[in-house]
Amino acid sequence: MSKSVYIKSYGCQMNVYDSGRMRDVLAPLGYRPVEGPDAADLVILNTCHIREKAAEKLYSDLGRLNAMKTARAATGSQMTIAVGGCVGQAEGNEITARAPFVDLVFGPQTYHRLPEMLARHERGGGGVLDTEFPPEDKFDHLPQSAERSAITAFLTVQEGCDKFCTFCVVPYTRGAEASRPVTSIEREARALVNAGAREILLLGQNVNGYHTERDGRSFSFADLIAHLSQIDGLARIRYTTSHPRDMRDDLVAAHASNDKLMPYLHLPVQSGSDKILDAMNRRHTARDYISLIERVRAARPDIAIAGDFIVGFPGETEEDFEQTLALVHEVRYAAAFSFKYSRRLGTPAALLPRQVPEPVKDERLARLQNLLTEQQRAFNKSLIGQKVQVLFDKPGRHADQIGGRSPYLQAVHVENTHAIAKIGEIHTVEIIGAETMSLSGAFRLEAVAAE
Ligand code: 5AD
Ligand code: SF4
Repeated sequence: MSKSVYIKSYGCQMNVYDSGRMRDVLAPLGYRPVEGPDAADLVILNTCHIREKAAEKLYSDLGRLNAMKTARAATGSQMTIAVGGCVGQAEGNEITARAPFVDLVFGPQTYHRLPEMLARHERGGGGVLDTEFPPEDKFDHLPQSAERSAITAFLTVQEGCDKFCTFCVVPYTRGAEASRPVTSIEREARALVNAGAREILLLGQNVNGYHTERDGRSFSFADLIAHLSQIDGLARIRYTTSHPRDMRDDLVAAHASNDKLMPYLHLPVQSGSDKILDAMNRRHTARDYISLIERVRAARPDIAIAGDFIVGFPGETEEDFEQTLALVHEVRYAAAFSFKYSRRLGTPAALLPRQVPEPVKDERLARLQNLLTEQQRAFNKSLIGQKVQVLFDKPGRHADQIGGRSPYLQAVHVENTHAIAKIGEIHTVEIIGAETMSLSGAFRLEAVAAE
């Protein structure tokens, strides 16, 4: 019997990955994915809890879904509503109390049990809540994907976090750090490449903390990258997100020696003030971070550095904030994500005195973002006149154009009037223009002839 499922992903790329795996789990039950909730038999909201307003957004989406569900019931058809992801994990009981029309609530570690939850719901008719951290590994229970892969495929290799930064909910919602076995990752990577992927983005909350054992020896994240590089047809490997404390020498060295590993490093710093870094329990200083960046650049001089920042952490003074600006000046970022501190109940920082007033946070965020945008534009402009390898992954903004990504993760648009490039191919492109968010490039005859 054919049924349809709509899954909405909020937040990070790990949620996007999880949503794909939920579709894989549901496919054998006859669920086909659809693009919107209107006609769906099952709607799953795969939620994010990391920052502001996640819960409010969830409840307003749920309100709309409830109206649809009621309208549907009047015509004799049904809609099952499920809340998964990190809000499900953190606020399971509140959700069932506040939105009793929600049928299933589960967290990031139990979605392999969706068939069981659905069966229980259908049999009993009541709500099902499954937010434990199960002893079994969900990856052992997920079927192989039958979907055609994107050109850039996501692959979760590590989950959870033991760092306990004092502002962050991840250690509570995603659980303890756990690395997947190499064989299971390799199997999935090969399947993704066979299904059309040219690039794999290795995902983990603390991905460079990946470590396991193989043949009785310890096996690091750099070992995993080297191992996956051997897959024929896989052209590019990326990873996100990393913690400075887990940036080991072998991983730094991989950026010098491995051609498939792209020159892009997303390394959150959060603040440039040692006092704030300490209060955040980051366990590194601003200087530690800057020297690490220097080591990475010594290995791979052209590497693009991206960062995450939080402004207005409790106790942050103007002087602390200026130290963040100073760090940004010193590092020169190619891209960045910056946020106002948002209090998350249950995290240690939520209880700290000297919470920073909202208008101060707004003003600091604007100043920081101005600087980061300026740096991003400067980085993009520095590529004008250079030839870069572009992996094409989508049509362009108009018919004769094609879009792709540079090694530095910049979006690149190229006029493709003579159909030189197809989606899934890598070509040399000369960069002829740069904006804040994207580059424009051109195929040059000599470059094309050399390929
Ligand atoms: N408030 C603001 N930003 C946060 N982040 C994580 N928790 C919070 C919070 N409570 C940001 C960090 C992290 C990114 C994924 O989200 O910068 O690196
Ligand atoms: Fe959260 Fe990242 Fe800190 Fe882990 S390392 S607690 S995921 S901010």
